[in-house]
Amino acid sequence: MRKNFGAKPFVYPQPVFIIGTYNADGTPNAMNAAWGGISEVKEITICVDSSHKTAENFVQRGAFTVSMATVDTLVACDYVGIASGNDTPDKIAKTGWHAVKSEFVDAPYFEELPMTLECRVISYDTDSCRLVGEIVNVSIDESVLNENGKLDIYKLQPITVETMSNEYYSVGEKVGDAFRSGLVLR
Ligand SMILES: Cc1cc2nc3c(=O)[nH]c(=O)nc-3n(C[C@H](O)[C@H](O)[C@H](O)COP(=O)(O)O)c2cc1C
Repeated sequence: MRKNFGAKPFVYPQPVFIIGTYNADGTPNAMNAAWGGISEVKEITICVDSSHKTAENFVQRGAFTVSMATVDTLVACDYVGIASGNDTPDKIAKTGWHAVKSEFVDAPYFEELPMTLECRVISYDTDSCRLVGEIVNVSIDESVLNENGKLDIYKLQPITVETMSNEYYSVGEKVGDAFRSGLVLR
């Protein structure tokens, strides 16, 4: 027996993205976004409400960054999803994060968030809220890479959000190998 929930934006695991942009005066801003994902090899699509300071910023600069929220930074990551740069100009100061300008696009990333997609705006539709970005570069701090130079998910400790109850969870144990675990059934 299943229970129906109707048309809801529920998927699991849901990403917790932190979108970094510059305000008009050059100060950094960030917001939390869960409604998004990869939509092409070099493309990400995120629903960003046009009322957000972030939307004004990426339209003006044509760029934004997308970092993975982590267990260590959870409180600040949630904060940037509650406070708006529209009425809290010192939003990033409150997080204690250190903004660094991306080498590739006109947007900041934050030292405390070790994995970032650096993106150029392809399109933004205010009616549908759809922001489509070209992934120009992915930068990952060496502190969360393994001995083979690949991402170590246990070191990164990304979080996921369960939007039915509005709870954050850490990502769990490795349980298989993509493109390989299923081969036993072939
Ligand atoms: C867990 C979480 C997920 C969120 N996901 C989105 C989202 O996908 N799209 C969106 O427009 N706002 C989302 N928000 C709300 C924005 O992060 C929030 O309104 C923020 O204050 C906007 O900041 P800004 O005005 O400085 O850009 C989310 C907030 C939280 C806490």
